Amino acid sequence: MTATRMCHRVEITGADAVLEVGEDQSILDAALRANAWIPHSCTQGTCGTCKLKVLSGSVDHGDSPEYTLTATERAGGLALACMAKPCSDLVVEPTGAVDDGVPHHPLRDFVGEVIELSDIAAGTRRLVVELDEEMTFNAGQYCELLVPGAAVGRQYSMANPPSERRCLEFHVKLSPGGLATEGWIFGSLSVGDRIDLRGPLGQFHIVHPQSEPAILVGGGTGLAPLKSIVRHALDNDLVPEMFLYHGGRRQEDLYDVEFFTDLAARHDHFHYRPALSEETWTGATGLVTDVVLADFSSCKGLSAFLCGPPAMIEAAVKSLKRRRMAPRRIFREEFTVAAVAAR
Ligand code: FAD
Ligand code: FES
Repeated sequence: MTATRMCHRVEITGADAVLEVGEDQSILDAALRANAWIPHSCTQGTCGTCKLKVLSGSVDHGDSPEYTLTATERAGGLALACMAKPCSDLVVEPTGAVDDGVPHHPLRDFVGEVIELSDIAAGTRRLVVELDEEMTFNAGQYCELLVPGAAVGRQYSMANPPSERRCLEFHVKLSPGGLATEGWIFGSLSVGDRIDLRGPLGQFHIVHPQSEPAILVGGGTGLAPLKSIVRHALDNDLVPEMFLYHGGRRQEDLYDVEFFTDLAARHDHFHYRPALSEETWTGATGLVTDVVLADFSSCKGLSAFLCGPPAMIEAAVKSLKRRRMAPRRIFREEFTVAAVAAR
């Protein structure tokens, strides 16, 4: 006998959506698959962007961490859409705007074949996956790669522009002892392997043309979504001038230097500035955020795209605010690690 999957009816106010959500499925997953937008960022319970108000019914909060969803918030009827599963029919209301004026692409499951897996910097690999079907996404978004045999996914940002829908490029940093990285991408994974993924996800992106120049700051593999954004913005003339900063500790941490140097040589309004914090060299030396501070006496009227470890992003936001950049023009993607954050 086949087990029947129990579903509940979930109404999302504001998005005008009524969904069937499985008891083992997050509200966010079901909503994005039905193309009903709920603001979200990390999809692993660490950022709090996807908070919902449960207006009626009850949810299972799963592994929602206390630091993202406090006991008081739970008691007040809040839930994280990326972690909460329905225990009954529900009416929920996202706490962020559901219509952000951005065209979104429905979340789907994909299967693909690894066609490149190469070491590009210290403890860093480029992984290219050729999908069986095309994926549409916004420049800057990410996918969740499903770790074989572990029933968990890990987030990795696409580094290719959305015009390349079939082959997805990822940049992966080794986390020592990490399940997806040491245990798989830097371990058993090989060219020719078939992998499962789901996407696209996230709201770190560039979609519309903007009139202000942009500063882009990537720490380590935080360069990945910025590469997608830069290529897409240049191809579609979206930004009048772009300044890309890539921070690493030593030269061995940098990658795609030739690619960006060549891009800068071909586009007057694109500038590339790698910075090293632990090695003196011919390029910029110091923490990447200090290098940005030294280069700009004012950031008024500019926007920023920041991506990488949470500490780098925090420092960059502080620096940009000191230089009078409007907070609402600072866009960020934090590479949070669920296990470390929970600790
Ligand atoms: P995990 O198994 O999650 O472990 C991470 C670290 O924690 C390891 O060092 C491990 O030893 C330690 N650890 C595990 N369990 C515990 C515990 N209980 N207590 C203490 N320590 C523990 N990364 C990239 O490289 N490139 C990207 O493009 C990228 N994009 C991202 C986009 C988003 C939106 C987010 C949220 C993250 C992104 N990341 C990216 C990070 C990535 O998703 C993974 O978190 C990272 O690769 C580590 O995964 P892992 O399974 O190897 O490590
Ligand atoms: Fe749900 Fe980050 S906590 S998307």
